[in-house]
Amino acid sequence: MNELREPKLAGEGSSDYEVYIRTDELLVLQPEPETWKHRDELLFTVVHQSSELWLKLAIAEIDYAVLNISQDSIQAASRYLIRARDCINYTTAQLPMLEKMTPWDYQLVRTALGHGSGFDSPGFRNLRESLKQLVESVQAVLQRSNLSLEKLYLNVEDNEALYSLVELLVDIDEALMIWRSVHVKVIERTIGATVNGTQGTPVEVVRNLRDRSIMEELWEVRVDLTDRADRELTDN
Ligand code: HEM
Repeated sequence: MNELREPKLAGEGSSDYEVYIRTDELLVLQPEPETWKHRDELLFTVVHQSSELWLKLAIAEIDYAVLNISQDSIQAASRYLIRARDCINYTTAQLPMLEKMTPWDYQLVRTALGHGSGFDSPGFRNLRESLKQLVESVQAVLQRSNLSLEKLYLNVEDNEALYSLVELLVDIDEALMIWRSVHVKVIERTIGATVNGTQGTPVEVVRNLRDRSIMEELWEVRVDLTDRADRELTDN
């Protein structure tokens, strides 16, 4: 008998894998067939629950990056922000699974949701709070380094670590914009473009939120550089 296969952790489950990952508890968190209004409730719940888990990890990584930035550990902060960006991209990657429900089947799933809406997603709500802290901490480190964004972008070679950090903010901002664009398309394919959501919000309102930024200056600095180039680099 292989001793390594014998469980040694205390807790619920017949193997150490089940005990540590807590699969018994995890796998009963989805609606059971007996209560389904439609069998696609499983697909719908798995996509939402896994999104909440990826966002939980994204938030933890961003919070740790903020701590690192406050200690001027800029490269370490970037390492954790790469993870956070990837977490957001994983939530985007799974959105198209929802388009595998037929529009009518989703109407049946929807009857099970009550007034449940993504507006109340703890993942997205807490992510917004963590991103506010991140933006503040990046603004503070730029100030400590006596750098405006424009100065940083003009002197990248002298400030590689800070440039990578700021570009990761752009990555995260862009990843969220892409998530919102894909989400709006999922909505339009599923319930239509001119209706209201489960909390009464017109889809058009969600569409207009797509390009909201965590830090407008990240995008404005590109414009400033183009203006500067027009002034300094053109012949006429
Ligand atoms: C069939 C799939 C989906 C449909 C039809 C849908 C529909 C909607 C609608 C109509 C709204 C506007 C608010 C309201 O309900 O009145 C909304 C908002 C929202 N939903 Fe979804 N949604 C879907 C999937 C998801 C998923 C997988 C997530 C991930 C957790 C999510 C997160 C959000 C968030 C965060 C908002 C707030 C608006 C924003 O930040 O852009 N939704 N959704």
